Amino acid sequence: KIRRPIVAGNWKMNGNLSLVKTMQDALAQSQLDNMDTVVCPPFTLLSGFDTQQIKLGAQNLSVYPNGAHTGEISAAMLQDVGCQYVILGHSERRAEQFESNELVADKVKVALTAGLQPIVCVGEPLEVRQSGKVFDYVAAQLDAVTQVISQQDLLEVVVAYEPIWAIGTGNTATPEQVQEVHAFIRNHLGKSCQEAAAKIRILYGGSVNAANAAQIFAQPDVDGGLIGGASLKVEDFLAICQAAN
Ligand code: G3H
Repeated sequence: KIRRPIVAGNWKMNGNLSLVKTMQDALAQSQLDNMDTVVCPPFTLLSGFDTQQIKLGAQNLSVYPNGAHTGEISAAMLQDVGCQYVILGHSERRAEQFESNELVADKVKVALTAGLQPIVCVGEPLEVRQSGKVFDYVAAQLDAVTQVISQQDLLEVVVAYEPIWAIGTGNTATPEQVQEVHAFIRNHLGKSCQEAAAKIRILYGGSVNAANAAQIFAQPDVDGGLIGGASLKVEDFLAICQAAN
């Protein structure tokens, strides 16, 4: 692989201190030297991980730096507990918290300014796929981001392509469907910054499991995965990481 693979586990609103310990121990013993393994637990569990051994990511951040924003978490707070990454624009937040392309883009800018690497989620709902407008939909999500950041900053962005119909459904996109959109994303980002096209890491997410990971990761424009449900099972998550290593 030309680009260093990443497998990120998005725990969503799951997990507890006991899972932190078992995951931490298992990952510490695994020899995943050729990739970045990232765990993105809920905020309350972030400080339970040893960041010497594991790369940490958060699942969201506030656009504000500090102050009277009850219930929010700032980029500086994430840095303080050792986060290197932050998932932004996950489809669950876009749907449940009404996050727009523009808000997601602003958050990406905040993350980059603070030195956090954003994992920017894009991906279409089923009706968009059925209407044949996937590229337009994903392009609009990407363009909102590239409009507010510099070409240099784009090199720090990780993109996660997560078709909404594949998330948590067991309906994994086929390797061909994944490759087609990843190649589109790479080419589209290349219009903003040629260097980014070659260097940017694009992860696939949506019902990745220990059985299908290797085939998806083998696609030329797939640089790893963003894993939901399977990232909560230590053995499955390790097997998925090994498929990328
Ligand atoms: O962020 C992760 C994705 O939403 C995928 O979730 O692996 O449970 O389908 P899933």
